[in-house]
Amino acid sequence: MQITAEFTEKAARHWTKERETKVTGGKDWLIKPSEGAAVLRAIGLLNSDASMPADAVRKFSQINHMLTLLRPVLEDLISRHEQIRVVDACCGTSYLTILLAWLLRKRWNKKACIVGIDSNARVIATSQERATALDLAEMVRFKAENVGDRPWDDIFTELFPDEAAGRPHLVLSLHACDTATDHAMAFAVNAKADAMAFAPCCHAELARKWKAVGDSKAEHPFNPIFQTPNIRRETAAHVTDTMRMLLLRSRGYEVTATEFVPSAHTVKNRLLLCQRRGQFLKSASAEFTGLKSALSGEGILLEELLT
Ligand SMILES: C[S@@+](CC[C@H](N)C(=O)[O-])C[C@H]1O[C@@H](n2cnc3c(N)ncnc32)[C@H](O)[C@@H]1O
Repeated sequence: MQITAEFTEKAARHWTKERETKVTGGKDWLIKPSEGAAVLRAIGLLNSDASMPADAVRKFSQINHMLTLLRPVLEDLISRHEQIRVVDACCGTSYLTILLAWLLRKRWNKKACIVGIDSNARVIATSQERATALDLAEMVRFKAENVGDRPWDDIFTELFPDEAAGRPHLVLSLHACDTATDHAMAFAVNAKADAMAFAPCCHAELARKWKAVGDSKAEHPFNPIFQTPNIRRETAAHVTDTMRMLLLRSRGYEVTATEFVPSAHTVKNRLLLCQRRGQFLKSASAEFTGLKSALSGEGILLEELLT
């Protein structure tokens, strides 16, 4: 979608201070409709008359909450590197990837190489079109493939052949379904990413394994959980993310788990923020093993991917 001068004029007229405050709640968000109308229109969050539909207000708010949490990490990377390398693993139609590129260029005037990876060729084509329409194709490039099929260096060299290669400074992965989050985590750890942020979703793997334990006749103190579908599903989601946190700590990352939007917005709102410290934490490995054996001995894919 090409952004016309006519649209830009409409947006300037539409986004009065009063209308903007209604959408942002008066918060000092990194992206405001009055400044980012073109990019918001290109990613489908503004109508052709520059207004923001109700469901887009929710998405816009989620994105801004996420960017607020990532801001200290981004500002730190920007201050330390001349050019930053960012990966969005399982990027989908790339709301975040494109907005991040836009911010890096417009707000921070920073050079960056941003890679979006997704197994779905159709969403990758849409993402590419959006980046081109916004004149961001120079700094954002996409690849349709499974995350983890190839190491980072191969992908980066293919997409940015003229740029100096090196580890990614930041890997993001938002709402990568079920074990796709494990693939994104293993990919980032193997690439020695400096910082990482994951918002996992659709945790199905461990719940499926626990169901099999509950269905077997074996006695287990957690059978009441294993045998109750919605409690099993909820508990498995929390335990899966705890196991992920421990495995990442055991591989040298400091990890914090936080909510990235108020839970009224979405239930898929856990964000694992990780910083590479380098020192592998043996106690985290022991905690992982203890948790796994207490809960039937079933583990998660990330453990296998990291060995
Ligand atoms: C729920 S969407 C999230 C998209 C985007 N990150 C967002 O937050 O809007 C999950 C995406 O993960 C992609 N995906 C799932 N498994 C994948 C894998 N193993 N490798 C790459 N992409 C994958 C799907 O194609 C889909 O686009």
